[in-house]
Amino acid sequence: MAKYRKEILDVSSFPLDDCRELVAAFNSTFPKKDAYMALEESAIHIMLIQLDMVKYREFLDGLSISEDLIKEAFDVINSIGSYGLKGSKRLFSGYNAERKVVNRKAKEQSRSKHYYANDHSFSKVNNELPPEFENKIICADSLQLLKKLPDNCIDIIFTSPPYNFGLDYDTHNDTARWDEYFDMLFAIFKECIRVLKYGGRFVVNVQPLYSDYIPIHHIIGNFFIQNKMIWKGEILWEKNNYNCKYSSWGSWKSPSSPYLKYTWEFVEVYCKGDLKKKGDKENIDITAEEFKSWVVAKWSIAPERNMKEYGHPAMFPEQLAERVLKLFSYQNDVVLDPFNGAGTTTVVAKKTGRRYLGIDISEEYCKIAQDRIDQADLGQQSLFD
Ligand SMILES: C[S@@+](CC[C@H](N)C(=O)[O-])C[C@H]1O[C@@H](n2cnc3c(N)ncnc32)[C@H](O)[C@@H]1O
Repeated sequence: MAKYRKEILDVSSFPLDDCRELVAAFNSTFPKKDAYMALEESAIHIMLIQLDMVKYREFLDGLSISEDLIKEAFDVINSIGSYGLKGSKRLFSGYNAERKVVNRKAKEQSRSKHYYANDHSFSKVNNELPPEFENKIICADSLQLLKKLPDNCIDIIFTSPPYNFGLDYDTHNDTARWDEYFDMLFAIFKECIRVLKYGGRFVVNVQPLYSDYIPIHHIIGNFFIQNKMIWKGEILWEKNNYNCKYSSWGSWKSPSSPYLKYTWEFVEVYCKGDLKKKGDKENIDITAEEFKSWVVAKWSIAPERNMKEYGHPAMFPEQLAERVLKLFSYQNDVVLDPFNGAGTTTVVAKKTGRRYLGIDISEEYCKIAQDRIDQADLGQQSLFD
């Protein structure tokens, strides 16, 4: 017999009579073996095994109680992101038992999970970041600067390298031959892997240059796998904008060479040595709602709108960095961005109570990044505006 899944609905702001009516009506409409509700002080405990959501919607619409309570009562169940299906009913509990694969765990073991990384030789001894690098924005070539850091001293790297699109950066030449570009990138990434702690995360935001037919996210993926990093997953950052003109078709209405269009970028997540990251419980700052929503790996976030104001041609928005840092790191962790640009990663690290090191080759961008940190220090910006 499956165990009930419990959801708690805070009803402290709703009339008590409405709450009583909702609970009584629910319990006389749906069989207890599927679901039931109980009113406990200022909360309704919703115990779920399975529920037909269409019937539930009809049931709620038939009640003469507060509209807001109806909305909350629907949303609290409807927003459960992970569930199974049985006929017209959503399964909220025991749905793993419904899976078709028998002996899933044993089979997983015999296949040898992340086999490509299991013979790594990473040390498990982590080190402190030397104080001269802590909470600093440093203007340098990351390849040179990172060599000054000890092994295993960074908890999480979040970065977006230059994509070689031919953008007008302050100092960096963004139109290299592709082989030279990857040589530059991977020399820096090798140093990044060295300085990353055992159990640390390396999160890279990339967008391929589709018109050159270079799948940069796959090439980067191969690099990480050859360097024994474990692939944790991939987030699709849905920007809802086209990467090219509406009229660029390649071949119009012909299979000869249609041009595919994209409205998203990728965020690749790799781990060093271990998929689990150690940290104190009191340093977790992600809320339950954020967690439920962000583990669904398609994130709709608008592109950064203030690039002109910051004077940088290729920034990602603070919201993207906020999600990455809160989902994959703890407060007080050390965050590195080796291509820090106008400093989005570092300012979000600062705002969310993490330590940071941001490196960029442009003095101009480093000044902007430092300025954003100073403003956050003065509390001149609201947390995520
Ligand atoms: C895509 S931008 C990063 C933008 C950043 N995520 C933001 O939101 O502001 C890439 C940055 O890498 C910097 N860069 C290029 N080569 C570098 C190198 N060898 N060392 C350090 N920074 C470098 C460029 O100056 C540019 O600002």
